[in-house]
Amino acid sequence: MSANVFGMPGYTPETYGDSFADVYDEWYGDLADHDFVDALVRNLPASPARVLELGVGTGRLLDRLVAARGTVRDDLTGVDSSAAMTVRAAAVPSLAGARLETADFSRSIPGGTYDLVFCGYNTLFNLPDDDSVSRALSLARGVLAPGARLVVDAAVVRPEDASDDVTVRTMTAGRVVLSVTRHDAAAQRIIGQFVELADGRPVTLRPWSVRYLAPAQLDALAVGAGLRLAERHADGRGTEFTPDSRRHVSAYGCA
Ligand SMILES: C[S@@+](CC[C@H](N)C(=O)[O-])C[C@H]1O[C@@H](n2cnc3c(N)ncnc32)[C@H](O)[C@@H]1O
Repeated sequence: MSANVFGMPGYTPETYGDSFADVYDEWYGDLADHDFVDALVRNLPASPARVLELGVGTGRLLDRLVAARGTVRDDLTGVDSSAAMTVRAAAVPSLAGARLETADFSRSIPGGTYDLVFCGYNTLFNLPDDDSVSRALSLARGVLAPGARLVVDAAVVRPEDASDDVTVRTMTAGRVVLSVTRHDAAAQRIIGQFVELADGRPVTLRPWSVRYLAPAQLDALAVGAGLRLAERHADGRGTEFTPDSRRHVSAYGCA
């Protein structure tokens, strides 16, 4: 079987969500990216706003956004390619009134006009190539209200990060989860599998594939989609972005 655009035969836009939905909150629920939600709040008016999340997953970030907004009741929308994920988001009490759709956000996004569109935790890197990122950015551009922003949280991956690895994620007496990764620096792609071996149970594989972009590459695709970089920081707290930064929180407005 030959490699596909994701660099992994058999991988599709639904694969990540379908493979991780059952463990996502347990594994990633306490990610320390609360500062990204702070950045989102700074990009919102004090009054209720229309908000769209691309790659909403289990609703982890939208749930935190609801908490951060206090008594302000925003109109929330989320899209995810995996129905296994959107089903979980729909069960989050704080998202009871949210519109949650299952779609590939590089092909279609929920119609409407939004005061904020955001894509957190490297989710834009789930798209496999320039074409799909360009399409997603154009779609996002098309639903931004005047003055609204698309805010992205993404890692800055460096060539020296390139390595193929097998490491242990967790281990108990009856279960081990191995993390197997392959990094193709030329293709700017990292693929991986979490391999779960549990006593008396079949092996579980959780595959993932990211195609990362340098900030300047993302900016160039954004320009092509009719967006312009309005603000970039090294985190959601407003720390200055420098050539040494390993993460960026970037806000794009309409060009
Ligand atoms: C790393 S998770 C992040 C989920 C959530 N934003 C968070 O921060 O917890 C990436 C999510 O993007 C979804 N996803 C991946 N490719 C997608 C695509 N092409 N269209 C829509 N959703 C996608 C996955 O199913 C998954 O739920």
